Amino acid sequence: MKSPTTWKWLLALAVGMLPAAVAELCTPTSGDYGRVFYVYSQSDLDTIAAKCTTVDGSIFIGTNYTGSFRLPNVRNITSAFQQEPSFPHKSDPAPTSIDIPDLEYLGGSLIVDFPTVAKLSAPKLKKVHWELRVQDVATVDFRSLEEARYISVSGNITSLNLDSLRRFGERCKICNKEYCGPTTPPNYPPLDLSLPSLQTMGDLTIEGRLSSFNIPKLSNLTALDEGYIKYNFDLRLAIHGDRLNVSFPELSTSNLSFFISGDIARYDLSSCGTSGAVAYLHMRISLSMPKMIDRVPSITVTSSTPLDINLPFQKAEFIGFFGNISRGCDTVQIL
Ligand SMILES: *[C@@H]1O[C@H](CO)[C@@H](O)[C@H](O)[C@H]1NC(C)=O
Ligand SMILES: *[C@@H]1O[C@H](CO)[C@@H](O)[C@H](O)[C@H]1NC(C)=O
Ligand SMILES: *[C@@H]1O[C@H](CO)[C@@H](O)[C@H](O)[C@H]1NC(C)=O
Ligand SMILES: *[C@@H]1O[C@H](CO)[C@@H](O)[C@H](O)[C@H]1NC(C)=O
Ligand SMILES: *[C@@H]1O[C@H](CO)[C@@H](O)[C@H](O)[C@H]1NC(C)=O
Ligand SMILES: *[C@@H]1O[C@H](CO)[C@@H](O)[C@H](O)[C@H]1NC(C)=O
Ligand SMILES: *[C@@H]1O[C@H](CO)[C@@H](O)[C@H](O)[C@H]1NC(C)=O
Repeated sequence: MKSPTTWKWLLALAVGMLPAAVAELCTPTSGDYGRVFYVYSQSDLDTIAAKCTTVDGSIFIGTNYTGSFRLPNVRNITSAFQQEPSFPHKSDPAPTSIDIPDLEYLGGSLIVDFPTVAKLSAPKLKKVHWELRVQDVATVDFRSLEEARYISVSGNITSLNLDSLRRFGERCKICNKEYCGPTTPPNYPPLDLSLPSLQTMGDLTIEGRLSSFNIPKLSNLTALDEGYIKYNFDLRLAIHGDRLNVSFPELSTSNLSFFISGDIARYDLSSCGTSGAVAYLHMRISLSMPKMIDRVPSITVTSSTPLDINLPFQKAEFIGFFGNISRGCDTVQIL
């Protein structure tokens, strides 16, 4: 007969032998940057993965990290995921790929900005409480991400999966070029840009060469006021591409300013004063917002190719067209 004490002992042993099946909170010891697990190799990651489903603190990638990086089992990191700070700056980590397959929640920021990483994936990550910043990573997979406050993805982006992104609190910038900015040249191959679930947003900037543009559900561009610093939110597109259809079919509410530049041959927001059909003719990029009828606060369009314009809205606070303009809509009332 086994005594209750033996049973408890056997149970403890089983828990120890099957760590992946048990939710476990790991708390790193506190240091200069709060509670941090520093990882220098895959074996450090394996040690964390064997014990923890929640890391109550941060994970910092050591500056001497090389090779692939895979951290399974961890579902919740309550603070940051980034590189180890190095002062004065000596070197960056050099992982070849980063895979955090089970992570669902990040309480701080996720920052990956070293060019050795070809692929970054966190396919179950649903929420990043603060910032998601990715630079110089070709393949970026955040297919379950619904929400973050700040998002920035820049560099030579081959593939970007943000299929579940519904909203971001303040700013989202996707820049597929070497130097971001409205007038810098688009020097990387085109990207399929798709944000199929995005409904509301703050400040959105999209720059670079694109092969397609898909933001079908965006309906409300009202800047959120959640008690943080308030600043003017804008929609900024500086995009290049061949026969690109830039369409916001559901967009009906906005108090943002629009700044649009690039290879825009025809700028058509349906026929003047009505929400009629949008024509797509002889254009390299067409832009349409057929429901955006009532009021646009401010719109600025800069085109590098001849531009043919139609606007559906009847009121705007500022409308500016710069570049090669062949025709304007004379029913627009500028307030
Ligand atoms: C990386 O740096 C850490 C901390 O300085 C050190 O403990 C570790 O041995 C280093 N690893 C390699 C492979 O150099
Ligand atoms: C993550 O873990 C922390 C610490 O245990 C907990 O307070 C928080 O609710 C967890 N978050 C999620 C989304 O599970
Ligand atoms: C950008 O990335 C693609 C795919 O990885 C590569 O073929 C191309 O050479 C890169 N372009 C530049 C300018 O680095
Ligand atoms: C747009 O979003 C803002 C902020 O979330 C909200 O207050 C407003 O009611 C929304 N407007 C529409 C028409 O959905
Ligand atoms: C846009 O509307 C929201 C909600 O009404 C408001 O909080 C925000 O300050 C407005 N932003 C601008 C630039 O007018
Ligand atoms: C843009 O839309 C037009 C009209 O719907 C279509 O013929 C054309 O193929 C589209 N272009 C792209 C690149 O999707
Ligand atoms: C306007 O477009 C035409 C045809 O593409 C081009 O030849 C001309 O240089 C452009 N003018 C300006 C000011 O960009």
